[in-house]
Amino acid sequence: MRPSGRDSLIGGGTPLVLIHAFPMDGRMWAPQTDGDFGFPLLVPDLPGFGSSPATDGPWSLEEQARWLANHLDARGFDSAVLCGLSMGGYIALAFAALFPNRLAGLVLADTRATPDTEAVKIAREETAGRVLREGMAFLADDMVAKLFGAASKASNPGLVARVRDMMMDQDPQGVAQALLAMRDRPSREGALARLAVPLLIIIGSEDTVTAPWEARDMAGIARNARVVQILGAGHLSNLEAPAAFNGALRRYMAELLRAR
Ligand code: MLT
Repeated sequence: MRPSGRDSLIGGGTPLVLIHAFPMDGRMWAPQTDGDFGFPLLVPDLPGFGSSPATDGPWSLEEQARWLANHLDARGFDSAVLCGLSMGGYIALAFAALFPNRLAGLVLADTRATPDTEAVKIAREETAGRVLREGMAFLADDMVAKLFGAASKASNPGLVARVRDMMMDQDPQGVAQALLAMRDRPSREGALARLAVPLLIIIGSEDTVTAPWEARDMAGIARNARVVQILGAGHLSNLEAPAAFNGALRRYMAELLRAR
């Protein structure tokens, strides 16, 4: 298992694993890895993204969750708090379904527990074919147009450009595999209902990819959930409003530790 280069094993106790969105890599968590949280942070590049090469065949989100479990094993951690944003949240929920006993806490940011609609499934397949034929540029342009809130687009063009560059770095094969894996994901509402740990849900008020009502729906299913809405942030709430995002993470982790 290769170290991602962004892991920070400073501080003791249960680690927080930051699981990146699509089509990005662990660099999207720079505002979190730059902060001093006082507990270990694991920031993997999922297979097919960033520094982790794409696999030959197709993979599922469950396989990504198993890969994460191996990633924990390799670092000697039995359990972890998972924080996934969007696709990262889909994978965190797959992990919750497969390894409930290894889950010490769960943060779901700008994501959903429901599967794709038929129309979205068809669009995913078309996009996967197009990425393989044409490369990343059209997808990076489409994604940055819809991921950011209006305020971030107007006030932070440098961030928008950095995210587009990160998307352009991704391997079309890994990206196509991710699209098909997201297409095939099942509902995770059952895993949410069975969650035995407190759930923190973070959502940007301007997120149009996963809407605030989807966050509230997830909170209604889980037994012990809190929603933190970040005003003015779009889909990439950790990058658009890092202070508010990190504050919510810190409070959640402190409460988890106190409850032990
Ligand atoms: C993401 O940000 O990871 C994607 O927008 C998720 C998705 O396409 O469903």
